[in-house]
Amino acid sequence: MKSYQKLLLANKSWAAEQAEEDPTFFTKMAEGQSPEFLWIGCADSRAPADKITGTDPGQIFVHRNVANLVINTDLNMLSVLQYAVEVLKVKHVMVVGHYGCGGVKASLTNSNLGLINKWIRNIKDVYVKYQDELDSIDDMAEKTDRLCELNVVEQVKNLIKTSIIQKAWKSENSPYVHGLILDLKSGHINQIMEVEPGDYSVINPIFKFDL
Ligand code: CO
Repeated sequence: MKSYQKLLLANKSWAAEQAEEDPTFFTKMAEGQSPEFLWIGCADSRAPADKITGTDPGQIFVHRNVANLVINTDLNMLSVLQYAVEVLKVKHVMVVGHYGCGGVKASLTNSNLGLINKWIRNIKDVYVKYQDELDSIDDMAEKTDRLCELNVVEQVKNLIKTSIIQKAWKSENSPYVHGLILDLKSGHINQIMEVEPGDYSVINPIFKFDL
């Protein structure tokens, strides 16, 4: 049997199991979603949002890309963010990085990787911002992991720089913004940053809009 056929087979037994456990599971699922969380994570196959948080379908709205970046011209991410915040009214927006991230690793080299150079460029900018601290770390794995953390911090700031979050902070639905990091060696997720609704102290005032 081909490996992708195994996926479809596994799906059938999962669906049967769910229906047996809770006969209303799929009826409820088909009715709609009201997740409390937006997860902006890395596309890495080892960082699946629901599996590692023990959550069920319907609980987390997910956007994933290489190295969990929040780029202010990325229509895909911004559309997900706007929908999550304005329509689904999520209470928590989370940037979830992970140690040993391939995208972050690549950003610390001079390799020419083609199209993805343009994406990785954004992480190089984070490196330059914290170059003094990062260059003081000799061990390459340690340096990469520190950049993984700093990258999360900068992406959280990028979220707060969006008019989407700033507008949401003016509304009744005022989401928290979190920076988290997954340790693949232990499976644990640790919080490295939490921004309360309406707290602009982590960004330069020039990024705050008159709303
Ligand atoms: Co990654």
